[in-house]
Amino acid sequence: MNEPAGRMPVVVLVSGRGSNLQAIIDAADQGRIPATIEAVVSDSADAFALERARRASIAALTLIRRDFPDRLAYDAALADLIESHNPGLVVLAGFMRILGPATVQRYAGRMLNIHPSLLPAYAGLDTHRRVIEAGEIETGASVHFVTETLDAGPAIIQARVPVKPDDDADRLAARVLEREHQIYPMAIGWFAEGRLEMRDGRAWLDGKPLDEPIRLEQATKSSAA
Ligand code: GAR
Repeated sequence: MNEPAGRMPVVVLVSGRGSNLQAIIDAADQGRIPATIEAVVSDSADAFALERARRASIAALTLIRRDFPDRLAYDAALADLIESHNPGLVVLAGFMRILGPATVQRYAGRMLNIHPSLLPAYAGLDTHRRVIEAGEIETGASVHFVTETLDAGPAIIQARVPVKPDDDADRLAARVLEREHQIYPMAIGWFAEGRLEMRDGRAWLDGKPLDEPIRLEQATKSSAA
């Protein structure tokens, strides 16, 4: 309501630690992206992300699945809670529930997710362990629009990260996370600036369809130019 002019209201959904949330809070606070986080909603009461929201004076809300008779009822309540904050964008930041089709459709083109792999490779859970077991030499992170198929919406930006011979899943996750913290605020910034959209099942940046996701190095170069 007291939105500074030109800042897009955002609702962030979380389940855990909230390091991506923190990166977004910092980018917004430092004026790097024209967005204001109106609320953080968690599906778990003890998510540290809620503490991060409170520290930043952002509404920290919890909606627990077991308080609802079924998934449909939970999803409807979640959509209503999101809607009460009138967001221009909904950001999934380590939100570990699969949203139902009604909610996804309601926010089609206005909902982003981050996933710790080079999508379409390694969608789903337990990404880093699977990457290491498969002997990959490279992995990364992807930001994409959310569609009804898990982790399969149009990709916007990716960062590549080498897999080192002595990596375990935790070490690899930590290195990928550093890149996540760069690419997520960038994509959210583009969206808030009106430069990014989803149309005809593709991501478009600055009026051009993305045949493949922007690479972090490309984005860093063009913002430095
Ligand atoms: C991040 O690595 C994010 O990419 C991943 O969960 C982690 C959340 O960390 N998300 C998924 O795997 C979604 N499929 P955070 O709570 O510290 O941001």
